[in-house]
Amino acid sequence: MNMIFLGAPGAGKGTQAEVVCKELNIPAISTGNMLREAVANGTEVGLKAKAFMDAGDLVPDEIIIGILKDRIAQPDAKNGFILDGFPRTVAQAEALDSMGVQIDKVVEINVADEKITARMSGRRVCEKCGNSYHIEFKPTKVEGICDACGAKVVQRIDDKPETVQARLKTYHEKTAPLKDYYQSRGKLVTVEGQEEIADTSKLVLAAVKG
Ligand code: AP5
Repeated sequence: MNMIFLGAPGAGKGTQAEVVCKELNIPAISTGNMLREAVANGTEVGLKAKAFMDAGDLVPDEIIIGILKDRIAQPDAKNGFILDGFPRTVAQAEALDSMGVQIDKVVEINVADEKITARMSGRRVCEKCGNSYHIEFKPTKVEGICDACGAKVVQRIDDKPETVQARLKTYHEKTAPLKDYYQSRGKLVTVEGQEEIADTSKLVLAAVKG
């Protein structure tokens, strides 16, 4: 099954994509994680993307579409995948269509902006593997250390409150129109984000399997 997880920054797309990909044994493809890795490795793409990301803007479509196209051509994606953070503009959705990629379901996780701002300040991510945690809602077993790979967990530069506001603005202007795009194609399912991560997971799994 090929799916897209859609939602505002911090709505919980990445957290839920991790849960569902384990359940269905398909990869979760996060364009944000791929870009952060490119930045950390100082690649040409990373150098181009960094300023956009740090400011809470989207990186240009032509950069991200090429990266995504290469990633979904990898063998592990041949039985399905979850796209976490792609598409983010109507132009990206159209590019996906023109690649001939069939999307079965688009799961939107809906969370109010006010809740998001509070959540983001507690988020921590692994600087090596990108796993995401929260100091209150999803703490690491050992403080400051990633459960999965043992590397250090840090705060993302773009999780500063002023940058979160910029990301939310970008989301409403450029990404939210995708709800209509996929609604009109009969693909959109909306899940209300819950206070507890596990409660959201139950709703997301039901939406995916329903
Ligand atoms: P990206 O990494 O995709 O960031 P984002 O969309 O802003 O999404 P987040 O990862 O911040 O949020 P999430 O919804 O995954 O939330 P999470 O599960 O972590 O992109 C970063 C940047 O890269 C973009 O700004 C852009 O510049 C660039 N980019 C990426 N893709 C692009 C594209 N296609 N085109 C152009 N540019 C692109 O949850 C957040 C926190 O809340 C966590 O700490 C989590 O533990 C906690 N939490 C989750 N659920 C709950 C809950 N129910 N209750 C309490 N806490 C919760």
